[in-house]
Amino acid sequence: MKKVYLETFGCQMNVSDSERVATSLAASGFEITSIQDSADIVLINTCSVREKAEQKLYNTVGEIRNSRLVKPVVGVMGCVAQLEGETLFKKIAGIDFVVGTRAVGRVVHAIEKVYDGVEQVSDLGERENDYDWSVNDAQRHSPYVAFVPIIEGCNKFCTYCIVPFSRGREVSLPASTIVRHVLELRRQGAKEIHLIGQNVNSYRPKTDSGMELFHGATPFSRLLRAVAATGIERIKFNTSFPRDFHPDIIDAINENENLCNWVHLPVQSGSDRVLKRMKRGHTIDSYFKKIDKLKDSARDVALTTDIIVGFPGETEADFEDTKRAVEYCGFDMAYIFKYSPRPGTPAFEMEDDVTLGEKKLRFIELERVQKESQNKRLQRYLGKKVEVLAERVSSRSADDITGHSTCHKLVNFQGSKDLIGKLVDVRIREIKSNSLFGEVC
Ligand code: 5AD
Ligand code: SF4
Repeated sequence: MKKVYLETFGCQMNVSDSERVATSLAASGFEITSIQDSADIVLINTCSVREKAEQKLYNTVGEIRNSRLVKPVVGVMGCVAQLEGETLFKKIAGIDFVVGTRAVGRVVHAIEKVYDGVEQVSDLGERENDYDWSVNDAQRHSPYVAFVPIIEGCNKFCTYCIVPFSRGREVSLPASTIVRHVLELRRQGAKEIHLIGQNVNSYRPKTDSGMELFHGATPFSRLLRAVAATGIERIKFNTSFPRDFHPDIIDAINENENLCNWVHLPVQSGSDRVLKRMKRGHTIDSYFKKIDKLKDSARDVALTTDIIVGFPGETEADFEDTKRAVEYCGFDMAYIFKYSPRPGTPAFEMEDDVTLGEKKLRFIELERVQKESQNKRLQRYLGKKVEVLAERVSSRSADDITGHSTCHKLVNFQGSKDLIGKLVDVRIREIKSNSLFGEVC
């Protein structure tokens, strides 16, 4: 039995694709191993969203080449594979096959071809749409938490972003497929599902004849209600696109207890001038209005975000606007990135005029402002009871269990292994910088 080691970089869509590949490999008689050294096949699922992410592919293949006496079969999938295609064979020695983002269902065929003696196998073809979600022994990152793709690709073309090129145009999965998938996951014991996509709230399914289903402004909130009706314990969704974040999404959350109180809404910048150059389609005021509504909701909804510092042309004054936005919004968490020019994107043609040193300074300063605001904001959990899905034993202490709250905060608490897989009420006793600590109520 050939052993396959899968290394995954990047977003949840990549994690989901890797799970899907692992499931089909296992169903075809391969063994999935967590030990790279003993694998016959090493498959790297790549990310190209920032230069650093892309560099990881080069480093990983280099390490494999240098550390193994017998070189395993090496395959590359994901965004770098899609963008670079066959040129990867020339750029990096030791790659045997390349599979694009839309061909993940055919990794087994690619491996078979390599074993048949074909050199430099590449498949950048279209996605097949008859994937069978009913597989019983699906390989997932957790038995209790599952990712459910609802929309793939992106039509937004923010000027800094490579995703519309690596993942193609938006394609929404049929609502019936999604609901069936969730029901199947529930039957298998999953407690929490994440509806995932680059922009989940741009969800807009079509019939076979190209007609739009779910007429009206927000098919996504209708989908949320349909998924809530499956009765699965917890539903989370990300990422949301600010321009399409309509108030009825908040109504759906308010009406359904199993829709969790967490929204990830990337603001990217606090300056209208920069937002315009990024082509984000929202102004900072329109963003504030949306989150004001979110904060007024009956549920205590946690808000997280993504921010880029040092975008071309970002002045000190623009950066001050971003700091003010962070203070105003009170994010529960923010992922902050230094702008990274991506060849092929419109921003790549703009002068990258904020020096690396300045980007670093702005990054550090914004992290400081966010941490300060976050610490204040998280105090609201102190002494409160939160419901946590117990996912695993903590990696730091064998006496502790780790899981996530409904607001998607990482929570550690003392408890026995028997709790794993259960929803546990935990009283929060301590606020740490990136997690909460509590005890079972
Ligand atoms: N440089 C820096 N950050 C980027 N992101 C996307 N493209 C770039 C880039 N070229 C960030 C955005 C996005 C997150 C997933 O990655 O903030 O929301
Ligand atoms: Fe990239 Fe913008 Fe699409 Fe998000 S919405 S994936 S940032 S182009």
